[in-house]
Amino acid sequence: MSSGLQSAAYIVAAVLFVFSLAGLSKQETAKHGCYYGIAGMAVALLATILGDNVAGLGWIIAAMVIGAAIGIHKAKKVEMTEMPELIALLHSFVGLAAVLVGYNSFIEPGAVSADMHTIHLVEVFLGVFIGAVTFTGSVVAFGKLNGKISSKPLQLPFKHPLNLAALVVSFILLLVFVRADGSWFALIVMTAIALAFGWHLVASIGGADMPVVVSMLNSYSGWAAAAAGFMLGNDLLIVTGALVGSSGAILSYIMCKAMNRSFLAVIAGGFGSSGSAGGDEEAGEYREVQAADVADMLKNADSVIITPGYGMAVAQAQYPVAEITDILRKQGVDVRFGIHPVAGRLPGHMNVLLAEAKVPYDIVLEMDEINEDFAQTDVVLVIGANDTVNPAAQTDPNSPIAGMPVLEVWKAKEVVVFKRSMNTGYAGVPNPLFFNDNSVMCFGDAKATVDAVLAALLRD
Ligand code: TAP
Repeated sequence: MSSGLQSAAYIVAAVLFVFSLAGLSKQETAKHGCYYGIAGMAVALLATILGDNVAGLGWIIAAMVIGAAIGIHKAKKVEMTEMPELIALLHSFVGLAAVLVGYNSFIEPGAVSADMHTIHLVEVFLGVFIGAVTFTGSVVAFGKLNGKISSKPLQLPFKHPLNLAALVVSFILLLVFVRADGSWFALIVMTAIALAFGWHLVASIGGADMPVVVSMLNSYSGWAAAAAGFMLGNDLLIVTGALVGSSGAILSYIMCKAMNRSFLAVIAGGFGSSGSAGGDEEAGEYREVQAADVADMLKNADSVIITPGYGMAVAQAQYPVAEITDILRKQGVDVRFGIHPVAGRLPGHMNVLLAEAKVPYDIVLEMDEINEDFAQTDVVLVIGANDTVNPAAQTDPNSPIAGMPVLEVWKAKEVVVFKRSMNTGYAGVPNPLFFNDNSVMCFGDAKATVDAVLAALLRD
């Protein structure tokens, strides 16, 4: 393939990636967004393989077949709730790839002109640095998300000075590396420092901030890919890396806003330090109801808001929830969904589940769109949500989730909470909502209890 044709193919792929991102920003167009992304990636792969690497085609195809087989197997097996850890693992691969490309590009710089030589060295150094930080940071995030590493933040003494020292020493090593016209010593020592820095950076972040960390690592992996693009002189990799890097950064910002956290505070770490912040003491009496009682409440309601959370995802209760919604809507009840930006365990988790169960998009509203309506709502069904509906975020300034915007479900006439016990949610914070006069608890696995409510509704 001529280089002109390859450049044209790269432009087409880049445009398809931009369309893909635009599509993914709305539920209605998300599927098309995926198709654009797949098409863009196919064009990019073909143009790259046929463009300059025909000699190693056999190797590339063998690697792709093995990689695709593992990828397809993993993607088919993974539970929706395990998505963040899979994503963290995939980010670690991007980081590792950037490190390897960096070393390879140092050993075999290819056709780099003399005046570009220094720039090439800087690219190699930065690419390896970003890649190494992304690699170990993502491995720790993976471990924390699947429980293999404690979600408590690592509190080393002098952790901030340590991080700063890592950055300063790495910068000095960069100067040594460039002055020496490429020094193995500087490159290897910096790689070791960057690996330790990435590990420490994410290890010192507490469990409650992990959503932001995953999207932050997503952003890092984009910059690592862009750095690899500079080293390889591949424009498409630079564009794609920059798209991933900047969209990851924007997502991190949105999530920080949703959790009322400053981005710097998240990076500095420490939040969500204890699994049971505030203790587990009972904060009063709670009332328990059965599924049939909930069905009666629903039958007498004119307006219902459903706020799903992680428990709905684990129990896979979205299907009976969708059926209940359908029945109530046919009876003229105004049913809507209120989605907290960090409900569940990954961005857009609840939207994906509800779309899967064919809940119409127009009744699925974001927290900001629906928060004012709770006061005029008859019944709220809190299905497997906890932190995202915790009034302590507004009332207790000492709570670890103080200031986090929450769904103000307690303002409704009646609130039914579906969960298995009085246990805390992800942030380990007790929830006073359960003890309110207008709250009742419907205990059990969310799928079983919601199924029972559905059966009771169908009976009458
Ligand atoms: P959580 O606060 O995690 O609470 C979920 C509740 O679901 C738990 O209290 C649990 O209580 C209940 N539950 C679990 N399994 C259940 C089942 N099979 N049936 C019924 N109930 C079940 O959920 P949330 O309100 O969605 O909040 C999300 C939390 O996760 C936030 O703290 C957020 O910061 C964090 N987080 C979010 C993300 C993203 S990006 N969304 C990523 C990582 C972490 P029982 O044990 O009593 O049943």
